[in-house]
This record gives sequence, C-alpha cells and structure tokens, in this order.
Amino acid sequence: MKPVLVLGATGKVGRHVVSGLADARVPVRAITRDATRAKETFAAENLSIAGAEFIQADVRDLDAIRVAAEGCGQAYVASSDVPEQVEMEVNAVKAALEAGVGPIVKLSSCDAAPDAPFSWARQHDEIEREISSLTTEFSHLRPHYFMQNLFTEVIDNVIYLPAGDGRLGIIDARDIAATAVKLLVDETPLRRTAELTGPEPVSFSRIASAITAATNTEVVYEPCTEQEFLDRMTARGQSSSEIARVYRDVSDGVLDMHTDEVEKITGRAPRTIEQFALDYAERFSSR
Ligand SMILES: NC(=O)c1ccc[n+]([C@@H]2O[C@H](COP(=O)([O-])OP(=O)(O)OC[C@H]3O[C@@H](n4cnc5c(N)ncnc54)[C@H](OP(=O)(O)O)[C@@H]3O)[C@@H](O)[C@H]2O)c1
Repeated sequence: MKPVLVLGATGKVGRHVVSGLADARVPVRAITRDATRAKETFAAENLSIAGAEFIQADVRDLDAIRVAAEGCGQAYVASSDVPEQVEMEVNAVKAALEAGVGPIVKLSSCDAAPDAPFSWARQHDEIEREISSLTTEFSHLRPHYFMQNLFTEVIDNVIYLPAGDGRLGIIDARDIAATAVKLLVDETPLRRTAELTGPEPVSFSRIASAITAATNTEVVYEPCTEQEFLDRMTARGQSSSEIARVYRDVSDGVLDMHTDEVEKITGRAPRTIEQFALDYAERFSSR
C-alpha cells in the first residue's frame, strides 16, 4: 500500500492514526513542526512508529507538503483551531490532491455548521465544504468532546466546570483514530460526514467516579458558574468565552448525544469512560 500523508501527526487523534497505520503495516509520512519532540512523544506513550517517516514541516509550507505528498495514496488532515485554519488546511489539501493524493480523511467537529456559535465549528464547516468541492473521495469525521481533554481538566483531583448535570457524547481519541485508520486501510471513503461519539452520553459526575475508581484517589466534579470558570481560565492564562459556552451546551443537553458510527465503521464498540480511566490511571495519578 502507498504511504499515507498524515497532517496533525502528533495531535491527540493524529498520534493514534500514525500508530494505528504503523500497526497495520501501512507506511506513513507524518508531518510535524518538530520531529525530535514528535519522536519523544511517541516513545513516551509507547506508540508504534514502524514504517513512519517524520517530516519536519509547517503545513503552510506548500512546497514541503507537495514533496511529502509525492507518491502518497491518501491523506489524514488535522491541525489546530487557529484563525488561519481554513486557509492552512484547504491549501494543504489542494497541494496534496495536485500531487495525486486521495481519498482525504478530515478531522472535523460535531458542531460544524456555517452559523455555529464557535469559531472552530464555522472553520470546520468551511473546510469540509471546500474539500467536498475539490474531491468526492472524502470522509469528514465529526467527533464529540475528546476524553483526552480530561488530562487538563482534572486539577488537584477536581473537575471544575460550568456543565451542570448535563451529559455529553464524550469519545476516546483512540476510537476516532481507529475510525480514520479503518477508512484509510480499506481505502473506502465515506463520501459523507460521520458524527462520532463514545458508547453512551455521560455526566461529569460519572466521569469523576470513573477516574476515582481507576486511580483509587477521590476525584470530584464541582459544577461552577460560567463566570467562575472564566475567572479560573484567566488565572491560567487561557481565557476563552467560547470554551465556557461549550460547557453551557453540555449543561443545556445540546451535546447529550449517541451515534453508532464508530462501531458501524470499525466493527468494534468505542471505549467507555471507565475503560479510558483505567487505561490512563497512571497518568491521572501522577498529576
Ligand atoms: N479536543 C476536542 O475535544 C475536539 C473535539 C472535536 C473536534 N476537535 C478538533 O480536533 C482538531 C485537533 O484538535 P486538538 O486540540 O486535539 O489538537 P492537538 O491535539 O493539539 O493537535 C494539533 C496538531 O496540529 C498540528 N499543527 C498545528 N499547526 C500546525 C502547522 N502550522 N504546521 C504543522 N502542523 C501543525 C500539530 O503538530 P505539531 O505541533 O507537531 O507541529 C498537532 O499535531 C481541531 O481542529 C479541533 O477542532 C477537537
């Protein structure tokens, strides 16, 4: 099989796309702005990189993307939610398609829509539409909130969020990656969007209980107001009213969702929050 071009190769999802393809013996060209740091990340997490070539490049460097894409069969496309995300991803996809790459698997978001209240959701909508206008060979994966976000949300054994008693379709990034890997290995694009969730919607109280049981250390969920959350974020130098709005949506039940797309595509049920907490118990305990 031809190599797969992976943009966003070190991301929460991308790193598992690289290792999943490596496990499936598919060669990978992994783009990262820092190849040394990337290899350290994979080694620290014990993730396979057999057959993966790390290419140090910025996604905005289209000459570098064209060279990396030469001879690749397909591409996985992800980056960060910066204001120039649309231009960055669309230009990179154009360069890859010009080099003969396709199908494209795009990491999008469950809330992608032209009139979404979140900048990233509007950006993903625009990128999806641009990609769909360039090729019919695409899969737009729209995951819900990543379980891996919890690594930064559990602070001093407290989850302090303005999410009320709401539930969300939280999903393990490894299951998003497994879905992407299955589509890439089978070389069968969905030609549609797929909304990806975990096996059932859960509340932050349930999440705290799962981490408590896995680590033998009490972790509690303390619901707070949006203002209290914003004050805490500002103190951490991360102020963003958009993030607070996500938790308002959780509180209002907007993200209380379940789909069976992961199981339909991969043939395997996505991991539960309890399984995730057990797998990463050491990481939560060492915080
Ligand atoms: N977190 C969630 O709950 C969630 C839910 C739904 C959808 N999403 C979507 O998932 C995507 C990834 O989000 P994330 O926060 O999880 O990101 P992340 O893990 O921090 O990963 C970002 C990746 O993009 C790469 N990247 C960024 N700018 C780049 C550039 N200029 N050149 C080359 N590579 C670049 C980074 O590579 P290097 O740093 O190695 O260069 C890294 O691999 C976002 O678009 C987000 O909207 C996230």
